[in-house]
Amino acid sequence: MTNLFEKYTTDSVFRDRFSLTPEYVPEELPTREDEQTRMVEALSILLDPFRPVAVNIAIIGPAGVGKTTLAKKITSDLQSYATSQNINLETHYVNCHSFRTKTSILRRLATDKFNIQGRGFSDEEMMEMLAKKLSRENKRIVLTIDEAGMLKPEDILGLMHMNELFPPGVGRISIIIITRRQQWSLMLNTHLSGRVQDQINMKKYTREQLKKILSYRAQLGFYAGVLSDEVLEMIVDIAATTGNARHGIEIMLRCGMIANAKKTSVITPEFVRAAKNEVYPELRPDVFNDLKMNELMVALSIATILSKSGGLVHTTINEAYQVYKMFCEQYDIKGQSKATFRLYLDNLAQLGIVISQVKPMPDGSRGRRSIITLHDIPALIVKERVEEAIKKKVQNKLD
Ligand SMILES: Nc1ncnc2c1ncn2[C@@H]1O[C@H](COP(=O)(O)OP(=O)(O)OP(=O)(O)O)[C@@H](O)[C@H]1O
Ligand SMILES: [Mg+2]
Repeated sequence: MTNLFEKYTTDSVFRDRFSLTPEYVPEELPTREDEQTRMVEALSILLDPFRPVAVNIAIIGPAGVGKTTLAKKITSDLQSYATSQNINLETHYVNCHSFRTKTSILRRLATDKFNIQGRGFSDEEMMEMLAKKLSRENKRIVLTIDEAGMLKPEDILGLMHMNELFPPGVGRISIIIITRRQQWSLMLNTHLSGRVQDQINMKKYTREQLKKILSYRAQLGFYAGVLSDEVLEMIVDIAATTGNARHGIEIMLRCGMIANAKKTSVITPEFVRAAKNEVYPELRPDVFNDLKMNELMVALSIATILSKSGGLVHTTINEAYQVYKMFCEQYDIKGQSKATFRLYLDNLAQLGIVISQVKPMPDGSRGRRSIITLHDIPALIVKERVEEAIKKKVQNKLD
């Protein structure tokens, strides 16, 4: 009998599932080359073989723009380069979700990393012991404090002040602070800002950037052929609404899990819609009850087309209009002209149920066509809810 784990592994769509998990730090950070260069420039003074100096850097930006990843990647490169140059440098990372005070950070550093028994000592005593040990061993450390908005600014300042325990001109403790933007504006009002030599502002990713990032991550995560360009584009579109790379990567991971559960080797648009819904479960449940009967017919026609097996990415106005007419007949409702149909479609788009875009013709011929997609909700769920709303209306004889 085959081992169940072996079967699972060989049947998987994942080349490397771990590479799509939040813990994974990718080798490369496409589209963040400038930020990497800035970090390297700022930190390179720590590689002076003769004089230990410290520098403080802040990385600021919204969710999922690569702040943590940038810091982890650069400090890991710094660590290995310093070792190769015989410079005694160590990098440490703390996340303030777990360590919420200066004391807990110090204790963590002192106990775990330097074998100093921290318990029973004050912060000042611990800092002194740490400083002595660093001097004796001629060591430099770089401490990354992630989610620093959870800490009081005084606590961060307190850690930075540790450098005053060394002779003038010497610094052995460098700090990289990472925060979201709003939290940083609060911190700016304190003395902290004067202590930070370099501030790296990271912006939301653009669609183009996300395309590069997500196709790189898809190559690492999936076997060739699992995620078509078309489906990738769809994930990029979703992530572009937030500018957050994690949004797209999480959707890819979930899509892979769905494919494995369904024992198929290809990710379909329908999986993307389902995964998206799991990542961002923000569908207002009563949105369909507010629709008019004709709008429900439009939504029903699109959802029906897109939920067909084989999973279409999008449909066209012409196709949807044909199916709409058919449903109108079936429910005994007066069907409207194509122009009115378009108005209903606009309403549905405004409510965030469908997305209607104008794109060039797929065969490269001249002209453009309108295509309709359903990003937000799996087509089958839309279909189900629309049918429920129709039933309610029919029962209550509403239009
Ligand atoms: N340029 C990039 N190239 C490849 N992967 C990236 C890139 N930027 C971000 N990622 C990936 O996107 C996810 C989110 O990145 P990260 O955790 O670094 O964001 P963050 O800015 O720290 O967000 P938060 O404020 O929520 O902590 C991670 O899985 C990371 O590996
Ligand atoms: Mg982070």
